[in-house]
Amino acid sequence: MTQRAALLIGVLTHTEKEWQECDKFTSKLHHYPEGLREDFLSKCRKGDFDGVYAMYRSNDSNSITGNFNEELLDALPKSLKFICHNGAGYDNIDIPACTKRGISVSSTPIAVNNATADVALLLMLGALRNVTQAFQAVRQGKWRGNFSLGHDPKDKVLGILGMGGIGSAVAHRAKAFGMKIQYHNRHQLPASEEEGAKYVSFDELLKTSDVLSLNLALNPSTRHIIAKPQFDQMKDGIIIVNTARGPIMDEAALVDALKSGKVWTAGLDVFEEEPKIHPGLLEAENVVLLPHIGTATVETQRDMEQLVLDNLKSAIKEDKLITQVPEQKK
Ligand SMILES: *[C@@H]1O[C@H](CO)[C@@H](O)[C@H](O)[C@H]1NC(C)=O
Ligand SMILES: *[C@@H]1O[C@H](CO)[C@@H](O)[C@H](O)[C@H]1NC(C)=O
Ligand SMILES: *[C@@H]1O[C@H](CO)[C@@H](O)[C@H](O)[C@H]1NC(C)=O
Ligand SMILES: *[C@@H]1O[C@H](CO)[C@@H](O)[C@H](O)[C@H]1NC(C)=O
Repeated sequence: MTQRAALLIGVLTHTEKEWQECDKFTSKLHHYPEGLREDFLSKCRKGDFDGVYAMYRSNDSNSITGNFNEELLDALPKSLKFICHNGAGYDNIDIPACTKRGISVSSTPIAVNNATADVALLLMLGALRNVTQAFQAVRQGKWRGNFSLGHDPKDKVLGILGMGGIGSAVAHRAKAFGMKIQYHNRHQLPASEEEGAKYVSFDELLKTSDVLSLNLALNPSTRHIIAKPQFDQMKDGIIIVNTARGPIMDEAALVDALKSGKVWTAGLDVFEEEPKIHPGLLEAENVVLLPHIGTATVETQRDMEQLVLDNLKSAIKEDKLITQVPEQKK
């Protein structure tokens, strides 16, 4: 155990002291705070990180190293057995390639659920109440501007696509607004976890929801799961809320559906090619847009950093992760 080193990529904001304290159970703490992929790869290849057993991949590390694909995994020290990633989504890590190399990966589910669900509700209510137009008018000194009435959430059918921790937290909150909630998921949940929501097929969800909230992970099978054929099946005037990942939905098809009136409005925290946003969305004056801030609260960011450290500690001391990604759990 004494020969197990740890590497931090990126910087910590809330748990710097806790990271330093990891020296009690590691042989060495390496830190790569910033840099470029080529530089990082060359340091790996020179052996600078040899002996690293577990890695902390911070929330901003992807902008430093780029995706953890085959090329990068090949360059990592052979001693590396654990990658502890800060984020609920880990589409920028090639999980099958990690598994093949005997590397276990953890993410930070649960910690993000409430904050992300809060933003889903914020976007949904903002869309229902046409808040963008009102926000703009009041700041331009036009008071209500060209005001038109919004809609109540009460008695609307909320469809949740992906009923994991975030989806359930959305359902929990939406209940308080008197919405009728239905969901589709790979598997129906036990009744105790359904939050009173009704399980329906994917087609049924598309055909009967007044508001559709996307709460599923991005992977090859969910990329563009919402595209033209799915919009065609939806009720006219549906509201779409996406706090999951941009590429789950075909953004150009959404713009077409907004133009045709098929989709009345949308509340979006994520986009296909962040930070780029389709000009058609910027032009649609009733669409509510946020720059991917779902988990951006002090409390949640601290909880996420701490959970990554807890995983790192468990990896080094006990050879196991607390929140290993489900694809690796057989
Ligand atoms: C990472 O978290 C810190 C706060 O904890 C925040 O300031 C920063 O914007 C986050 N970076 C990304 C890429 O999410
Ligand atoms: C999320 O909020 C619920 C209350 O709505 C609380 O019981 C739960 O502990 C919170 N989860 C996390 C991970 O903070
Ligand atoms: C105000 O909004 C209505 C309905 O959306 C629209 O028909 C009308 O042209 C708008 N008026 C102005 C001055 O923008
Ligand atoms: C929302 O605002 C847009 C842009 O001003 C307007 O066209 C639309 O009629 C409004 N709808 C409601 C229900 O407020």
